[in-house]
Amino acid sequence: MTTVASIQEQETPVTMLTAYDAPTAALADEAGIDVVLVGDSIGNAVFGYESTLPVTMDDMTRATTSVVNAVDDALVVTDLPFLSYGVDRAQSLENAGRLLKEAGAHAVKIESGPHTVELTEAMTRLGIPVMAHVGLTPQHVNSVGGYTRQGTTAEQAAAMLDLAKSHEEAGAFSLVIEHVPREVGAAASEELDIPVVGIGAGPETDGQVLVVDDAVGLSERVPPFAEAFGDVRGEMRQAIERYRDAVESRDFPADEHSHSEGLDL
Ligand code: KIV
Ligand code: NA
Repeated sequence: MTTVASIQEQETPVTMLTAYDAPTAALADEAGIDVVLVGDSIGNAVFGYESTLPVTMDDMTRATTSVVNAVDDALVVTDLPFLSYGVDRAQSLENAGRLLKEAGAHAVKIESGPHTVELTEAMTRLGIPVMAHVGLTPQHVNSVGGYTRQGTTAEQAAAMLDLAKSHEEAGAFSLVIEHVPREVGAAASEELDIPVVGIGAGPETDGQVLVVDDAVGLSERVPPFAEAFGDVRGEMRQAIERYRDAVESRDFPADEHSHSEGLDL
């Protein structure tokens, strides 16, 4: 069983991958992925939105239930979606609690800012483990003006590392750092005791995370820092085209798919 404690102790890099449904989560779990993230990237990857902003608590709750149903060993972490936290303290705690209580997640991930330090502390105190998230925080796409690399000056990088440290001090059990220069990823891993999981943050972080659609080659476009380790898109397209052709040519269903009672009709 992977736990928030075991990923803090493990010697090998933490492997983390998103999943939004039971069959994908089962494959990740069987492969020995340490942390399955029910990311709010479900908005882009599954729902076809342009951003993660429209994703709701109901979406995350349902997706988390599907993932939890399929996972035996991995730690299941779920993103708190845009505006489900930070507006009202009680509501933030209730929403985070719902992901554990109703959907069975083991922890939540929160896109971090100065406003989430106290919240991280409160959740941790209540028994809701929190994974922090610094660097590119896609829920801020409108304020940032795009999905651009963060921490590109020494000053910005220092502020980001300070923010990361405040979340560690507030009790975060781990931290994601997204789309930053590799030296910033390395510095975060060096300066924090908790495991730092990078995405587009170079090779020196304590672990790596990718969106599963990118990792298996299902996404139409893959960010420059990701790699497609397979061609699921090509495989699915071929299978769908073969099915279409077989129906059009009446090769499917074949005799082996058909049953007769010899009825005289
Ligand atoms: O939603 C997501 O997939 C994420 C990862 C990219 C870290 O937050
Ligand atoms: Na996310």
